[in-house]
Amino acid sequence: MNIAVLASGNGSNLQAIIAALKAKKIKATLKVVFSDKADAYALTRAEKAGVPVVAHLSAKDFSSREAFDAAVVALLKKEKVELVVLAGYMRILSPVFIKAFADRILNIHPALLPAFKGAHAIADALHYGAKITGVTVHLVDEEVDHGPIVAQAAVLIKPNDTFETLSSRIHKVEHELYPKTIDAFVRGKFKVVGRVVTKVG
Ligand code: GRF
Repeated sequence: MNIAVLASGNGSNLQAIIAALKAKKIKATLKVVFSDKADAYALTRAEKAGVPVVAHLSAKDFSSREAFDAAVVALLKKEKVELVVLAGYMRILSPVFIKAFADRILNIHPALLPAFKGAHAIADALHYGAKITGVTVHLVDEEVDHGPIVAQAAVLIKPNDTFETLSSRIHKVEHELYPKTIDAFVRGKFKVVGRVVTKVG
């Protein structure tokens, strides 16, 4: 199966996915890495790894969110991408995108959804005084951090945790959970009924 990773920033999850692909822990082909940010380090990581198509488009060159997403969808379809993996992609996907890849878009979020949605989930959990947070992999629908949950893992918050120490433990869990979940998804071992995603083998 051809996959694409979309990232706006550092790309540490992308790196973990690349490592898992090389180790054949994900049975798929990474055809495209795309970013909406020209200076995303994820693009450098993709180039170093020899990903066939490493692409960037800037939203300011498009008249609307839909026009931008249509261009990204066209790029992904041209490369026959079947699964879109969001890894720190900081744009909300429009219906144009969601419909083009219905139930074929995964996202990773650094909290146990539906708790702590949004762009500051790690800091929010810490400041809220939560004792447990974690990582969620979910299918993407038209609402932010909302689609059916595919996999979750808990991370305990320690009394003396700082943003840095907690982030580092959460990222470690992300880098294990995401490749594992992508591989399971690629092998078609999930059934989606309404909001409920069931592993069927
Ligand atoms: C991760 O924490 C992910 O959960 C969130 O964005 C961050 C991306 O980090 N969606 P990186 O770019 O993969 O290092």
